[in-house]
Amino acid sequence: SHHHHHKAPVRVAVTGAAGNIGYALVFRIASGELLGKDQPVILQLIELPHAQNALKGVAMELNDCAFPLLRDIVTTDSQSVGFKNADYALLVGSKPRGKGQERADLIKDNGKIFVDTGKAINDNASRDCKVLVVGNPANTNCLIAAHYAKDIPKENFTAMTRLDHDRALYQLASKTGSQVTDIKKLCIWGNHSPTMYPDLTNTTVHNKLIAPTLDHAWIDTFFNPKVGKRGAEIIDARGSSSAASAANAAINHVRDWALGSEDWISMGVPSDGSYNVPKGLIFSFPVTTKNGKYSIVQGLKISEYSQKKIDITTKELLEERACVENLLK
Ligand code: NAD
Ligand code: LMR
Repeated sequence: SHHHHHKAPVRVAVTGAAGNIGYALVFRIASGELLGKDQPVILQLIELPHAQNALKGVAMELNDCAFPLLRDIVTTDSQSVGFKNADYALLVGSKPRGKGQERADLIKDNGKIFVDTGKAINDNASRDCKVLVVGNPANTNCLIAAHYAKDIPKENFTAMTRLDHDRALYQLASKTGSQVTDIKKLCIWGNHSPTMYPDLTNTTVHNKLIAPTLDHAWIDTFFNPKVGKRGAEIIDARGSSSAASAANAAINHVRDWALGSEDWISMGVPSDGSYNVPKGLIFSFPVTTKNGKYSIVQGLKISEYSQKKIDITTKELLEERACVENLLK
């Protein structure tokens, strides 16, 4: 019951905690939506020096919520303080793109951030810290952070494609007049970029394969680009990039990783060579989760169309990796 929280508190570090996504994220972590309504948490909030006042304001509001599960709040501009004994690290802190930019354009500025972050996680966090990279370009930033966290298992480093997954769920529900909960086995392959492949091959609505009932042209010329370019559509409409939906996806990603999920979900994870994706690349796959572990769904038949799409997004990720080669020595 809500007044008997016997579990030891879990430490959740969040970078960029006073930013747009951070503000939509930390209250939900504190309310128990991330790790469960019986799991006390300690928030370790990291921001740049110039944002420390704003961060203190966020901490004041967190206190003012009187969340029963929130045991402590650390606010800091020091990564070593912020990642100390962290069980989870949500890496949001980085620049968002503006109108007309691609996420990959952020690589030079944002990539560097993840060098120090990777080292700080390595030197301070719990040995089984689970890491989610939200900051763009998320897959390649994740590759960099994982590289510098030599003593933490690579599989603990993941990048967020859950927003793409959830966007795809909504688009398909809307097209088919169904509820998102009626849809199973949808997945995103590859990069969190317009080259991502939202794959409906195995997707069921009310337990029936849906692809044979859809016009392939709708999938190819509407659905794929709608999902792939939704981030830009939001930026055009809002004047700034998605924040509440991104925070929601981050909650979904980590919650399902920690607590398990019934259906397939999409996560950017280090490739183990499945589906011939080059080993080590941070690549979104269909995964299932159980007992704090994810597994890439195996044995799927890949059509010629799907393979072409997977090849395109693989090529882009290899190019992004080449672009930050100097950071991966
Ligand atoms: P924002 O500018 O509102 O907030 C980012 C915050 O990070 C700022 O407060 C800034 O001070 C802080 N920051 C920057 N560098 C930092 C560092 N080295 N350490 C700690 N904090 C740092 O941006 P936002 O809208 O919250 O977006 C954050 C990132 O998330 C962007 O890169 C954006 O493109 C990305 N994003 C990813 C997805 C996804 O699906 N993967 C979705 C939405 C946004
Ligand atoms: C998104 O998908 O909304 C984010 O990655 C922000 C962006 O730049 O598109």
